[in-house]
Amino acid sequence: MTIIASAPGKVILFGEHAVVHGSHAVAAALSSLRVFARLEPRSDNRVRIELLDLGVWWEDETSALGITRARGEAPEPPPSSKKPNGRALELARRLEAPLVAVAYLCAELCDAEGATLAVKSGGLPAGAGLGSSAAVAVACAAALCVGATGALRKDVANAWAFAAEVVQHGRPSGLDNALSCYGGGVVAVRRGAGLERNTLEIPPLKLLITNTRVARSTKELVAKVAAEFEAAPGPVRRLFDAIDTIALDFASACRENRVATPFVARLVRLNHALLRALGASHPALEAVADMATEAGAPATKLTGAGGGGCAITLLHDAEGIEIADDKVRRLVQKLRRRGFDCYQTDL
Ligand code: PMV
Repeated sequence: MTIIASAPGKVILFGEHAVVHGSHAVAAALSSLRVFARLEPRSDNRVRIELLDLGVWWEDETSALGITRARGEAPEPPPSSKKPNGRALELARRLEAPLVAVAYLCAELCDAEGATLAVKSGGLPAGAGLGSSAAVAVACAAALCVGATGALRKDVANAWAFAAEVVQHGRPSGLDNALSCYGGGVVAVRRGAGLERNTLEIPPLKLLITNTRVARSTKELVAKVAAEFEAAPGPVRRLFDAIDTIALDFASACRENRVATPFVARLVRLNHALLRALGASHPALEAVADMATEAGAPATKLTGAGGGGCAITLLHDAEGIEIADDKVRRLVQKLRRRGFDCYQTDL
């Protein structure tokens, strides 16, 4: 039986990078931007992994991935102490970078008789700060979980997707895979023993997501911010604390039903300034902020790891009034002329 699973990307409103170091973050799943994974069992003891958008594939005997599980055996969540190791990881590491996490998942969860696992984006741009690697991991883990047991257990898929994110990114917060796996609206999260998640009710906010299409690596940016923290722990801790306060203030305002758009805009601008101080911005992201401000939308921040990738702009003016459609259209045209991609969405 062919199994198709899909998982959404995410947008971080507040708290990226600081969340890796224990602060709160506020984020939402992007249900219209997804990744699809198709799993086809096969009985020739071969495994094939295809990333259709990138034209990358790999195929070998199941034994090459060290697959040893018996058919129908339930894949339990990995113990939290699990470190990716062994033959499967060694092989996964020799594969092309984008395949590493998927190959690792396949080796750990795949049916022993073999399978073809194909991954395709349903509009979610890769490596742009919208959680594509986590969405790939969640979709694959979900398909492999159903393939092995006939049922989807989200806790299992989420735990395995996190294990794949560790392979891909080194020190993820777990925010991306949790949002992709459990979805939901806007949630406040905190890294800890497991990720705490609290759903927030927010008033309608119009957002423009701009993908600068400047390539960057989440792993490198997370490592860059961690190096900054190690080199100057005092001031950088204070930057993390300021970001934590922004996420918490937004969450309290939501809970107390007093979210005023100009207040949100202020938080967006402050959070971006703090991320810039951490070294996570990029001239292309600053260009988006300048163009949006010129168009009357003064609140833009990078989203995700930064260093390129995506920015979010609140489509509201300084008084909180929604920007008129024709002005938004002109802004989008201008951004596209600069070579950027734009997605309009509501939160
Ligand atoms: O750029 P993305 O979509 O991989 O998001 C990274 C978010 C970080 O906070 C920088 C890292 C993390 O694991 O939370």
